[in-house]
Amino acid sequence: EKVVLAYSGGLDTSCILVWLIEQGYDVIAVLVNVGQDENFDEARAKALKLGALKIVIPDARKEFVEGFIWPAVQANALYEDRYLLGTSLARPCIVSAMMKVVREEGAEYISHGATGKGNDQVRFELGAYAQQPHIKIISPWKMPEFYNRFKGRNDLFEFAKERGIPLPVTPKSPWSMDANLMHISYESGILEDPNTHAPADLYQMTSDPEKAPEKPCMLDIEFKGGMPVRVKNHNDGTEKTDALELFLYLNKIGGQHGVGRIDIVENRFIGMKSRGIYETPGGTILLTAHLDIEVFTMDRELRKIKRELDVKFGDQVYRGFWFSPECDFTRWCINRSQELVEGTVTVKLYKGSVNVVGRKSPLSLYSEELVSMNVQGDYDPVDANGFIRVNALRLREYQRLRKHKDGK
Ligand code: ARG
Ligand code: SIN
Repeated sequence: EKVVLAYSGGLDTSCILVWLIEQGYDVIAVLVNVGQDENFDEARAKALKLGALKIVIPDARKEFVEGFIWPAVQANALYEDRYLLGTSLARPCIVSAMMKVVREEGAEYISHGATGKGNDQVRFELGAYAQQPHIKIISPWKMPEFYNRFKGRNDLFEFAKERGIPLPVTPKSPWSMDANLMHISYESGILEDPNTHAPADLYQMTSDPEKAPEKPCMLDIEFKGGMPVRVKNHNDGTEKTDALELFLYLNKIGGQHGVGRIDIVENRFIGMKSRGIYETPGGTILLTAHLDIEVFTMDRELRKIKRELDVKFGDQVYRGFWFSPECDFTRWCINRSQELVEGTVTVKLYKGSVNVVGRKSPLSLYSEELVSMNVQGDYDPVDANGFIRVNALRLREYQRLRKHKDGK
């Protein structure tokens, strides 16, 4: 029977690959390229050497940016007000690429290396069931015959040595990482004590804000339909319009200036709190710029409703419900709200901060004439008297009631 395994090239999923073969399965490894820093040729050779029937390495980077990160930008997507959802967004993208292989291969099973305590297991499995309702899931870290055999890293090392699985050349850092082109996350290990500060050498995408360049970087970010379509660097004239290139460029320049580091405690879907450190340079720049162009162009009352959908979207994505009727609907509504979200925001990157310094738009609802103190325009100040008196009605009635109750 065929199993499609979400393979990372690392020790855990290499052991799972061999273990699955020993349980009698034919394993097809899928290593989805979502922009992680990985030697794909080496990983391919490794999986085949370990006995995988084949390995598929789909390049999903463009799809990840356009199909997942852009909707998140439109939604100003955050979980619990701070986490930009880098891992949460990549999972449904990875699942889609995997399920394509499942269909091509006529596989009955999928397998993954997420633990039984985290969010990723939920995202993988909900995504798989949503796309292939009869799929069967092998989740070794939730199977006693697996987790009783592999109680810690040492057991994995022993197994790897016995089975000829190449051990990682670089010593493993004392925390767990998940990397893609949107972010790197760091959790567990020494970071489990929420009061342990991250060592300076943990960060891989961003430089230390204190050591970032003294000279700020000025960027123009142009949006159409609430999505970035052009980035221009004032300092050296660099311009990017291709979605993937544009996002990678923002990562690079944001990373140089130390933008996008956070250290938080968050609530996992399954109920426990966990501590995570994230660096999301490009995503942080786009969130700041998009929020600004949105306020500039969007009707006030539309925005109020839309902001509630933004929060819902963040929750749905975090909890693994990308492929659900509610998230479909949320994305559709948010996308619809972005029709007129168009224009250019200028931001300044400086030692870890990203600040808006100006904006312009052909579609803005902002009217200099209307707001100016010096011009009357199509607005009669006398009208404001009645507007305020009518709005004061409830406040005056309330005051009357208070006095009545206090018997004055
Ligand atoms: N806590 C984050 C999330 O749930 C990051 C998870 C990181 N995953 C991992 N396999 N290291 O989205
Ligand atoms: C894991 O448990 O596999 C990683 C952390 C998470 O999924 O939340």
